[in-house]
Amino acid sequence: MDEEAVIEQLNAIVELELAGAIRYTQYTLMIFGHARIPIIGWMKEQASEALDHARAAGEEVTTLGGRPSLGIGAVVATHHEGIDPILAELIEHERRGIGLYEELLTLVRSQSIQLEEYTRSMIRAEQLHLSEIVKMQRSH
Ligand SMILES: [Fe+2]
Repeated sequence: MDEEAVIEQLNAIVELELAGAIRYTQYTLMIFGHARIPIIGWMKEQASEALDHARAAGEEVTTLGGRPSLGIGAVVATHHEGIDPILAELIEHERRGIGLYEELLTLVRSQSIQLEEYTRSMIRAEQLHLSEIVKMQRSH
């Protein structure tokens, strides 16, 4: 297994998940209207989940003897007026995350059962999560 490449990939995940925690927190401040309370509640859960994911990826970095990234991925760049553009941005963010985990899988597949299990379970969790957001965008 190319440990350097795995550590680098895990660090990209740390940065994206941390940015996710901040993003979800920022979005909670831009939600208004009838659905505000349930949507904010859901976003707060997503923010702490992203933080858990950042920590989990960071733990894998240190398990491999690497240095965890102190960086952070892209956060929200504009103030959104409605929920739809927020959902569109979230879908893009979640797809990027799944992409990073899928790249990680190509690095660890058949190399480390432990890391492969971790990566597969993350892909499944993130995929379910993405499907939820896509369904929130739908009207029926
Ligand atoms: Fe995540």
